[in-house]
Amino acid sequence: MGRAFKVVVLGGGTAAGYAASEFVKLGIHHGDLCIISEESVAPYERPALSKGYLLIEGAAWLPAFHTCVGTGEERHMTKWYKDNGIELVLGTRVKAADVRARTLLTAAGETISYKFLVIATGARVLKLEEFGVTGADAHNVCYLRDVQDAAHLVDQMAACRKVEGKAVVIGGGYIGMECAAALHGNHIPVTMVFPEHHCMARLFTPEIAAFYETYYGKKGVNFIKGNVMASFEQDEFGKVTTVVLKDGRKIAVDLVVVGIGIHPNVDLFEGQLAMEKGGIRVDGKMRSVSNHSVYAVGDVAAFPLKMYGDVRRLEHVDHARKSAAHAVQAIMSSNKVGDYDYLPYFYSRVFTLSWQFYGENVGECILFGDHSASKFGAFWVHKGQLVGAFLEGGSKAEYAALARAARQRPTVDDTRLLAMEGMGFAMAL
Ligand code: FDA
Ligand code: NAD
Repeated sequence: MGRAFKVVVLGGGTAAGYAASEFVKLGIHHGDLCIISEESVAPYERPALSKGYLLIEGAAWLPAFHTCVGTGEERHMTKWYKDNGIELVLGTRVKAADVRARTLLTAAGETISYKFLVIATGARVLKLEEFGVTGADAHNVCYLRDVQDAAHLVDQMAACRKVEGKAVVIGGGYIGMECAAALHGNHIPVTMVFPEHHCMARLFTPEIAAFYETYYGKKGVNFIKGNVMASFEQDEFGKVTTVVLKDGRKIAVDLVVVGIGIHPNVDLFEGQLAMEKGGIRVDGKMRSVSNHSVYAVGDVAAFPLKMYGDVRRLEHVDHARKSAAHAVQAIMSSNKVGDYDYLPYFYSRVFTLSWQFYGENVGECILFGDHSASKFGAFWVHKGQLVGAFLEGGSKAEYAALARAARQRPTVDDTRLLAMEGMGFAMAL
């Protein structure tokens, strides 16, 4: 025996929070919606964990950043879910799913059945153990995915400060860059180690990366590029004291922060639902292509990116919010909604810097602006069309112009002229 709901959202992260908000806006009946989350707190804005949460002064901790404050909407705490007749099942892991029987089995042994399932299970961090490194379970080796990880990192930063210790950041992606800035803000000297020849290799060109690396370098952040860690040395209490690199170099350390990518949480559905690009393959309604009572949103969804005519999986918050809202609109309208038409949007904020990117980073990269004044940007031009736009230090109006440009994909006849016009080109569209 178990409970039955019209809709179950599996996962209680950012996408789940925005799904709940959309269901309420569209008038879901009390008792029809259940959200099951392994986390013990109501859905929150995950991006806060590597930014406001880690500030040494004026930190933003929960309940400050429950969804949906990230888009300027109301903040939904557990009472809001109760008031809206939503069953919020927290601290509960789902350990099995049967999409034919439309049931989920929780770790507590309860079977929960649904008419529609929205999979919003996000991702788990890749662990160094998966690359053969031992000792990565030491208390001073930190990962960052949920609020418990963030609280642990805050404790470890305090312990590190006490001994005037040093940190090593493993990975040169989003977590690496944002955590290195946070560590510096906590007065902890940082060395970053990553295998690529420049930071943020998924998005940045070497020229864009050079700006951020120079900026970090002036703050005292040290970069070891084109190298990976091979092993840890530990003291008799199990604390990691040394990071040993592949080339044999040793770095003394008091705190290690690891950000080497993620794995989408789709294991429960392997062999049951069609998969692509490591995620659950959905159609333009965010509905599984192999089971029409199942929808997938956020980090786990491999969806048709309408404007590029291919299938993508994106690991960013704007897509988590919008794909969740789209799936809900599809469910509530019996799929009488258009296809999800998403413009990729990524951003980051580090130190006093802040950048945004729209579109895709393929083709030739055309830089513009003034690197020395922390106000510069780049356009990507592919087959004679502007397809991607990046800007550091922009205003609201300028970022809106970038989004317009990436959406419109205007023809570019002369890339030298584009470089000279810079933001003027986008603002004039
Ligand atoms: P999310 O990970 O938010 O939620 C998944 C939920 O499912 C979790 O609550 C999890 O516990 C639960 N779950 C998983 N398996 C379960 C099971 N079997 N049973 C029950 N519950 C289960 N993006 C961006 O664009 N800008 C930014 O600045 C940042 N910053 C940022 C910082 C940090 C520290 C992280 C980790 C990530 C970001 N991101 C980001 C990425 C962004 O946060 C991410 O893309 C969204 O949170 C994805 O939302 P989802 O709801 O898909 O997953
Ligand atoms: P990432 O994919 O951005 O970066 C992973 C980095 O790990 C790579 O750049 C590489 O330098 C490094 N790496 C890979 N294998 C390695 C190895 N064996 N040894 C050492 N380094 C290795 O992933 P992340 O930074 O871990 O971020 C995790 C998730 O959180 C992503 O989904 C990301 O999009 C999201 N996130 C986004 C933001 C943002 O959008 N501002 C901020 C934080 C986190």
